[in-house]
Amino acid sequence: MTALLTTEGLQMRFGGVVAVDGVSLAINEGELRCLIGPNGAGKSTFFKCLTGQYKPTAGRIFWRGKDITALDPFAIARLGVGIKTQVPSLFDGLTALEGVCLCRHSSEAEAKRRAMRALERLGIGALANRRVGLLAHGQRQLVELAMVVAPEPDLIILDEPTAGMSTEETNRAADLIRELNQQHAIVVVEHDMQFIRAIARTVTVFHQGRVLMEDSAATVFADPRVRDVYLGKAVA
Ligand SMILES: Nc1ncnc2c1ncn2[C@@H]1O[C@H](COP(=O)(O)OP(=O)(O)OP(=O)(O)O)[C@@H](O)[C@H]1O
Ligand SMILES: [Mg+2]
Repeated sequence: MTALLTTEGLQMRFGGVVAVDGVSLAINEGELRCLIGPNGAGKSTFFKCLTGQYKPTAGRIFWRGKDITALDPFAIARLGVGIKTQVPSLFDGLTALEGVCLCRHSSEAEAKRRAMRALERLGIGALANRRVGLLAHGQRQLVELAMVVAPEPDLIILDEPTAGMSTEETNRAADLIRELNQQHAIVVVEHDMQFIRAIARTVTVFHQGRVLMEDSAATVFADPRVRDVYLGKAVA
């Protein structure tokens, strides 16, 4: 299998805090990878390094074998990496369609066509002309997901995509992610273990900036070390 994205000894240090501490991992073409780990484990910081938002303090990132460590976020996005960040980034005053159009493409007509297609792929075509500010939380999450999907990236990175969703919305999101995975590689961070179990194949566990383990979902969830780092959290 070809590696789409690889990191080698990735490190991100903020003063005395080493948020990401020597992470080496590979995401393969077409993969659906789940990333889990307790609060502060370094998951979001790792993502921000992958997308060029942070410049890692050590280590390297490769895209299809090419070193992209020094590239800026726009260049990385253009290569085909899309991210839905943990913090929402929607403009309430725009309609869903306008919001999704913001992720730029060649022409306005092309942007609109792709935006509409993304909304439809996510089952929210009917919301295209509704103001984002008036949508329910779960619907807003889907509009944000549409913004990521619209440019048709090869790799989609999702940082807690189901946060604040109802159980029903979360189940639907799991179906959607499996569907999207037929055309895009996906890396997803979630704390909702029911959701992770629903979609997981390979799971990578972060703990204190490092990879604690990486294995099949069944093996990871049965591992006492993983239970330990979650102490009382929903890894049953
Ligand atoms: N910009 C920053 N400046 C200083 N410290 C930071 C910064 N961003 C993150 N950190 C620290 O790095 C560590 C990892 O944070 P990060 O947000 O990556 O964790 P996370 O695994 O995404 O957690 P959560 O599950 O709560 O989202 C934490 O100790 C955090 O306080
Ligand atoms: Mg985070």
